[in-house]
Amino acid sequence: KSSLKIAIAGLGTVGGGTVQLLHDQAQLLAARAGRPLTLVGAAALEKPTGLPLDGVPFFTDARVMARDCDYDVLVELIGGAGGIALDVVRTALERGRSVVTANKAMIAHHGTELAQIAEAKGGTIGFEASVGGGIPIIKSLREGLAANRVTKVMGILNGTCNYILTTMRESGRDFADVLAEAQKLGYAEADPTFDIDGIDTAHKLAILVSLAFSAPIDLDGVSCEGIRHVSALDIRYADELGYRIKLLGVAAQTDTGIEARVYPAMVPLSFPLAHVSGPFNAIVTEGDFVGRTVLEGRGAGARPTASAVVADLMDLALGRTIPTFGVPVAALKAQPAAASGAH
Ligand code: HSE
Repeated sequence: KSSLKIAIAGLGTVGGGTVQLLHDQAQLLAARAGRPLTLVGAAALEKPTGLPLDGVPFFTDARVMARDCDYDVLVELIGGAGGIALDVVRTALERGRSVVTANKAMIAHHGTELAQIAEAKGGTIGFEASVGGGIPIIKSLREGLAANRVTKVMGILNGTCNYILTTMRESGRDFADVLAEAQKLGYAEADPTFDIDGIDTAHKLAILVSLAFSAPIDLDGVSCEGIRHVSALDIRYADELGYRIKLLGVAAQTDTGIEARVYPAMVPLSFPLAHVSGPFNAIVTEGDFVGRTVLEGRGAGARPTASAVVADLMDLALGRTIPTFGVPVAALKAQPAAASGAH
């Protein structure tokens, strides 16, 4: 059978991890998919050393690769809501090709529009890696829970903040010091204010809301407060009272619409999210037939995120196509944000 031809744009933490995974697991992936997954192009501003890219055509301009290279799927791991990332994704979709991305900012801002292009042109857009790192939360909401009315989805969606809050509590070290470490470990965004101010969590929550409630993505409907003002003393007092402070994204279907908020919450020790530590993420979902489900795993870093990117590539290799948000874009129902959720 012919191989799935993959062009990868961006060779940073996640891009590098994805190239490495495709190389290290090549046999296993080919056996499971019944066909090889082959890199036919890689693009970055500079060619990194130490990655298994021998014989793979290299482009310093991702736009040129997106336009000219013959691929089945473009993997976008450049990042950023617009700019080059959005250009190459649009180009690929307009060409009728598929896209796999880890770019939560881009999906949160442009996901509905991109899904429309994909549907019109016959491609697909996969973004399993955009929320929860290696946790299969997108597939879980879209496929595994497809028979339920979801009433609530909430979780720890930012590894950097969870790492900072956990390490501050365990070591008493200060915020800036721990943040620098999270950056070194490859967890933080290029601009770490996106992590700390809750923006990254808001991007991810907006995506989950869309899948959970079959609504178009509405980032403006997510209220957002980060962890900048959480002090070591707050963490200690919470501890003494039997709580952990966690940056949560919480969304619920209410009588008046969808309420979606990001905020540092006092989580009682008995609740599943209280013990999620370090760079881990966890998502709690409530559905009318299934009840509560909890998924936990590594929410950031090269290898877990690559795991999710390649899960989407496997869908394509196997010819599995599922509508982007579980239903065709035209079937997404605009729902008013509940009053307390929008500010
Ligand atoms: N900066 C993000 C985090 C990376 O810390 O969770 C994964 O999306």
